[in-house]
Amino acid sequence: MPSKLSLAGSLLTAALASAQNLTIANLTAGANCACTQLVSTYGDLVILPDSTNYTAEATDYWDIRADLLPGCIFMPSDASQVADAVSTFVSCGSQFAIRGGGHMNFPGSNNINEGVLLALNNLTDITIANDNSTVEVGPGNRWVDVYTALSPRGLYCIGGRLKTIGVPGLELIGGFHYLINKYGMAMDNVVSYDVVLGNGTQVVANSTCNPDLFWALKGGANNFGIVTKFTITALPIPYISTTIQTFNESAIPAFIEATVQMAENDPGDIAAGSVISVTYNQTTGKIVPSLLGVQEGTESPPSRFANFSAIPSTLTLNNVLTPIEWHSQLDSPNQMMRVQFAHKTIKPDTAQLTKIYEAWKTAVDEISDVEGLLPTFVMNVLPASAASVAKNNGVGNTWGLDDDQSWILWQFSTGWANAVDDLRMTNWASKLLDYWHLQNQALNLSSEFIYMGDAGEYQDPFAGFPLENVQRMREIRDAYDPLGVFTRLNWGGFKLGSN
Ligand SMILES: Cc1cc2nc3c(=O)[nH]c(=O)nc-3n(C[C@H](O)[C@H](O)[C@H](O)COP(=O)(O)OP(=O)(O)OC[C@H]3O[C@@H](n4cnc5c(N)ncnc54)[C@H](O)[C@@H]3O)c2cc1C
Ligand SMILES: *[C@@H]1O[C@H](CO)[C@@H](O)[C@H](O)[C@H]1NC(C)=O
Ligand SMILES: *[C@@H]1O[C@H](CO)[C@@H](O)[C@H](O)[C@H]1NC(C)=O
Ligand SMILES: *[C@@H]1O[C@H](CO)[C@@H](O)[C@H](O)[C@H]1NC(C)=O
Ligand SMILES: *[C@@H]1O[C@H](CO)[C@@H](O)[C@H](O)[C@H]1NC(C)=O
Ligand SMILES: *[C@@H]1O[C@H](CO)[C@@H](O)[C@H](O)[C@H]1NC(C)=O
Ligand SMILES: *[C@@H]1O[C@H](CO)[C@@H](O)[C@H](O)[C@H]1NC(C)=O
Ligand SMILES: *[C@@H]1O[C@H](CO)[C@@H](O)[C@H](O)[C@H]1NC(C)=O
Ligand SMILES: *[C@@H]1O[C@H](CO)[C@@H](O)[C@H](O)[C@H]1NC(C)=O
Ligand SMILES: *[C@@H]1O[C@H](CO)[C@@H](O)[C@H](O)[C@H]1NC(C)=O
Ligand SMILES: *[C@@H]1O[C@H](CO)[C@@H](O)[C@H](O)[C@H]1NC(C)=O
Ligand SMILES: *[C@@H]1O[C@H](CO)[C@@H](O)[C@H](O)[C@H]1NC(C)=O
Repeated sequence: MPSKLSLAGSLLTAALASAQNLTIANLTAGANCACTQLVSTYGDLVILPDSTNYTAEATDYWDIRADLLPGCIFMPSDASQVADAVSTFVSCGSQFAIRGGGHMNFPGSNNINEGVLLALNNLTDITIANDNSTVEVGPGNRWVDVYTALSPRGLYCIGGRLKTIGVPGLELIGGFHYLINKYGMAMDNVVSYDVVLGNGTQVVANSTCNPDLFWALKGGANNFGIVTKFTITALPIPYISTTIQTFNESAIPAFIEATVQMAENDPGDIAAGSVISVTYNQTTGKIVPSLLGVQEGTESPPSRFANFSAIPSTLTLNNVLTPIEWHSQLDSPNQMMRVQFAHKTIKPDTAQLTKIYEAWKTAVDEISDVEGLLPTFVMNVLPASAASVAKNNGVGNTWGLDDDQSWILWQFSTGWANAVDDLRMTNWASKLLDYWHLQNQALNLSSEFIYMGDAGEYQDPFAGFPLENVQRMREIRDAYDPLGVFTRLNWGGFKLGSN
């Protein structure tokens, strides 16, 4: 296909030519230039290191590891100020980081030492369409804000499963919600994006306007521009049936089996999904398996969780609630600990997941002296039915998953207290992860798919996307950001890299 090749060729030439025009200044000098210009235009919207609010803003992160010391923090109040900030960064050659809800849990993904932190927290508009079909959401919102706004109209949407996770990060990387088996990932529910590009231009990306960018933003993360508004499908779901269940350690085999059964038999006819985890309590030495289950509608107990409900539990709480009543309980406070995420993907397989769990439990022993230790083994169900949504909606997404196989994303989420243990904890998790992934590969049970929301910073989620999708994203990035602003000046987080 010569036309496609020559298009790619000319895009590449353009990218190389203009990349030469992007100057990257000395880190401190670039930030000084940008901060000075922003202060002169926006005054109090810029928070300097000696401002009273500096520490509160520089530590408004979930993971303590993400706390860094930016040269200044700019908190725009509308999209045109975001656009102006990007132009300022480019003209000063200033390195910068972007923060939405601040939950991506590693240094540099959403914060920066000495450079400029663009904190979007004050872009908090939420506007529901008159016909109740969509909701426009600014990137400063948490999911609880969106669910709260939708609640009076009996509406809900596909977003974060807990309370305070940020809207923009989750939307740009995928978005696991409870009801994905019927409605798809959060990203599949975005019908339009307002985007500030690297040259300061504001564009809309939807199915008719910049459709290539529209597709690329569905999972392509922070490689293309800054989203200043997400327009999301609103769903008429006034009530959900919920279940909270905890078990003794002796229930683990049945618990893993129920998880696998859920993954294997999860058609989208009844929307339902969960948070499934096993926590080790350092104080008591106890292992606690737990389920947070949600099903659309009012049938209680929720039938889709029957295989969990059949296991003798230490606690079972079934309720019919409005979505906001449910999410309001699910706080996960900022700054509780340092955290390392690490995850891989496996076919639903009870025997192998049980082995991995046993290995994790044994390995926790090696780190049992670590202060503030909080190890969790998480199983995230990714049902084939969730992939069907993107396959059939005429848009797709950058994951490009087939809908003939369900998966379980197995994850170690490990918390601890002190920086002195950082390397030890990262090594511990990565070695255990890689060993079991190799075993899974040998058994033909593995997938290379990695979800950015559960990944460690040393992992490369894009390497698990279909190669043609990665190449297409790179072409789209080079067309919309020929200067490489979101690659070279904004370098934190998961970047596409070069060919
Ligand atoms: C306690 C906890 C619970 C979680 N629960 C879920 C869950 O239920 N489902 C799920 O899918 N994931 C979940 N996650 C993972 C979560 O989706 C990611 O951490 C996600 O990045 C959070 O979004 P944020 O806005 O808070 O993140 P941020 O850290 O603010 O942003 C994430 C990345 O996106 C970039 N970015 C932010 N805003 C913009 C923007 N407007 N334009 C361009 N780039 C931007 C940032 O620079 C950063 O690289 C959870 C994480 C935690 C810590
Ligand atoms: C690079 O900068 C030069 C001089 O300012 C300008 O003439 C040229 O058009 C720019 N090239 C691109 C691709 O932007
Ligand atoms: C930037 O310049 C300052 C002062 O000129 C210097 O102290 C600093 O080391 C430089 N930083 C880098 C990253 O080169
Ligand atoms: C952000 O918004 C809050 C709440 O409206 C306000 O108090 C604060 O001053 C704003 N921050 C900046 C830097 O403007
Ligand atoms: C600083 O924080 C306080 C309390 O959160 C808030 O009322 C005030 O508006 C903030 N100021 C700025 C400039 O952000
Ligand atoms: C939107 O929802 C509200 C609250 O339920 C309702 O009063 C209104 O009629 C709905 N609008 C339309 C166009 O359906
Ligand atoms: C896409 O956005 C443009 C510009 O806002 C708008 O005119 C068009 O109707 C939108 N298309 C769809 C399908 O929403
Ligand atoms: C561990 O157990 C103790 C005693 O029951 C409890 O107080 C504490 O909250 C538990 N810790 C966690 C992290 O669940
Ligand atoms: C429970 O597990 C059985 C056996 O795999 C399966 O047939 C059934 O569909 C599961 N029930 C639910 C509600 O998922
Ligand atoms: C859980 O373990 C405790 C302590 O061993 C025991 O008393 C209790 O009966 C167990 N509960 C279930 C549901 O197995
Ligand atoms: C590996 O599993 C896939 C299904 O996921 C199957 O098509 C393939 O034949 C299997 N390969 C081997 C060597 O068993
Ligand atoms: C900004 O970049 C976009 C995408 O490359 C391009 O279409 C647009 O013309 C540029 N605008 C300006 C003012 O250079």
